Amino acid sequence: MTATILPTPADLSITPRDRRFGRDTAMERLWHGGRVEATAIYNALSTTFPAGEAYFVESVRKFRADAPDKLAEEIKAFTTQEAIHSREHDAFNKRAEQAGYDLSKLNAQVEKRLAITRSRPPVVNVAATMALEHFTAILAHQLLANPSHLEGADREAAELWRWHACEEIEHKGVGYDTWLHATRDWPRFKRWKVKAKVMLYITRNFLVDRTAGALELMRQDGVTGVDAWSRLLWYQWVHPGMFRNIAGAWAKYFLPGFHPWNEDDRALLATYEAKAKVEPSSKRKVRSAA
Ligand SMILES: [Fe+2]
Ligand SMILES: [Fe+2]
Repeated sequence: MTATILPTPADLSITPRDRRFGRDTAMERLWHGGRVEATAIYNALSTTFPAGEAYFVESVRKFRADAPDKLAEEIKAFTTQEAIHSREHDAFNKRAEQAGYDLSKLNAQVEKRLAITRSRPPVVNVAATMALEHFTAILAHQLLANPSHLEGADREAAELWRWHACEEIEHKGVGYDTWLHATRDWPRFKRWKVKAKVMLYITRNFLVDRTAGALELMRQDGVTGVDAWSRLLWYQWVHPGMFRNIAGAWAKYFLPGFHPWNEDDRALLATYEAKAKVEPSSKRKVRSAA
């Protein structure tokens, strides 16, 4: 058995921030600056989190028992962070429903994908988690690095997305390190092949499902056909262009020697923390005043 060298920073601390967002107020239907496509894209992504993040937790936990102490601790903190994210996105999704959206088709699609993945061996589930965690980490990096993504958005909703992004960056190495641990005795090429195949599969499904989900929600706002497609593609690929901006970071996943912490982006966390202290969300004010 070979020991695995983990490039996750030794002094990284994964700290669950148990915060609540937007509990006291109703959310406007078009909470993202009144824009149908922006609201639809974020709402569609949010529908994946409650069940999706519970699945990540279930996947990595299976390898916790024989993990090295540091990784076992990280899995524990990861579990807590993801459980709180599920709770907050569940609340967010309920607000979107209260604002009039029917999320049933989107939820059913998430469940369908998860059922297929769950039928595969545990190590493949870790590979799927690691791939999706890379996705969330690069989306999170872009969200925090480029304020134009949340420009004009409802304040509490924007806070929820920034808070989630911060913790996704913080725990971005956990799925990967669990995979390195779980496959420590595999030959290098087999590791790369499974990792790459799963990432391509996940990427295809991610693009197809999130696009279909966003189009469905836009349809519920009366935007369909060429108009819907052009607004969606412009928003995702041109301005603010989330997908264009993450394409390079996505491709790095396939390089030999890739690890999420090859890019140390903890400076974004420090900036987030400093801002959150100066501009706490309304809920925090209520809690600290109580
Ligand atoms: Fe999360
Ligand atoms: Fe995560």
